Amino acid sequence: MTRVLITGTAGFIGYHLAKLLLSEGMTVHGYDALTDYYDVMLKRRRHQMLMQTPGFSATEDWLEDAERVQSVARDFRPDVIVHLAGQAGVRYSLENPRAYLDSNLVGTFNVMEAARELGVDHLLMASTSSVYGANEEMPFREIHKADTPLTFYAATKKATESMAHSYAHLWNLPTTMFRFFTVYGPWGRPDMAHFKFCKGILDGTPIDIYNNGEMWRDFTYVDDLVRAIRLLMDAVPERPESAADIAEGDSLSPVAPYRIVNIGNSEKVRLLDFVDAIEAAIGIPAKRNFMGMQKGDVSATWADASLLHDLTGYRPQTDFREGVAAFVAWYREYYNV
Ligand SMILES: NC(=O)c1ccc[n+]([C@@H]2O[C@H](COP(=O)([O-])OP(=O)(O)OC[C@H]3O[C@@H](n4cnc5c(N)ncnc54)[C@H](O)[C@@H]3O)[C@@H](O)[C@H]2O)c1
Repeated sequence: MTRVLITGTAGFIGYHLAKLLLSEGMTVHGYDALTDYYDVMLKRRRHQMLMQTPGFSATEDWLEDAERVQSVARDFRPDVIVHLAGQAGVRYSLENPRAYLDSNLVGTFNVMEAARELGVDHLLMASTSSVYGANEEMPFREIHKADTPLTFYAATKKATESMAHSYAHLWNLPTTMFRFFTVYGPWGRPDMAHFKFCKGILDGTPIDIYNNGEMWRDFTYVDDLVRAIRLLMDAVPERPESAADIAEGDSLSPVAPYRIVNIGNSEKVRLLDFVDAIEAAIGIPAKRNFMGMQKGDVSATWADASLLHDLTGYRPQTDFREGVAAFVAWYREYYNV
């Protein structure tokens, strides 16, 4: 029976992943500090629901506490670690860059150290599509250079990719880095645009639409995303014999059991169409407040997810209108509006 240590289980993606793995009979230990970056009650509710599921236990503490991370990992003895905890959010990294330094660099280092010490079968960690930064060649592929981060958030995530590569090489630690593309769905994050749009429409307050709506995102429904993570858990990277053994388009390192994988929908959706879908699901028109581009933001993200498909056979299953309807239904029930 697989034992999986997941960091960030009180968070949006970690909660959904833990639920999926528990439903398959795995044993999961969560690790999350329930930080106050957004509504702590929402995080507490997610953790409470997981606590009611047999096979789940959790530690509520900071990743920066190296000894705690190490002792939790030693006691639990995971086969696999999925590291999702971190300071998320593009815009907040302009206000509080230190939170990203602490959580994403120090925190991730502590998780890597625990993975090295235990010699886990597979370490999987969250990066972001934001690492593509100023890249203009779309759809984004893992083998493209990604050396122009536009925010400190993206810079810390890019740094974790490099840190993880060195550990994969030095300690022969099989490692997969995910680059997620705008994840949405029930139990989502209040700092994200779709959440604010839904709230604004229901409250009757104007919603801010940046770059005058000239924005495109590769929206990924959370159930699809965690299914992709589950499939990638079994796609353990192996150090190739030589560079010639690496398939065309594969991001596998020539010198380490290390790979980067985009998880996206492979579909670029116009932000205004996404707003239309939220309006349609709620049945109330939005008051649209068109704004300029925000500092550090990019107008488009779009994943080439063919590597994910080649490795796992994964295809996304959720059309964004369906996903939006499910999100709105959850929001209305949860907030009773
Ligand atoms: N949601 C998206 O669209 C998206 C896109 C790209 C990348 N990501 C990345 O995926 C991961 C999960 O994102 P999410 O949307 O679930 O975010 P989230 O904020 O809902 O979850 C992250 C969790 O990590 C915990 N955490 C943060 N710093 C911590 C620390 N120092 N010690 C212990 N716990 C800490 C938080 O309390 C939170 O519960 C993050 O690393 C994020 O950067 C998310």
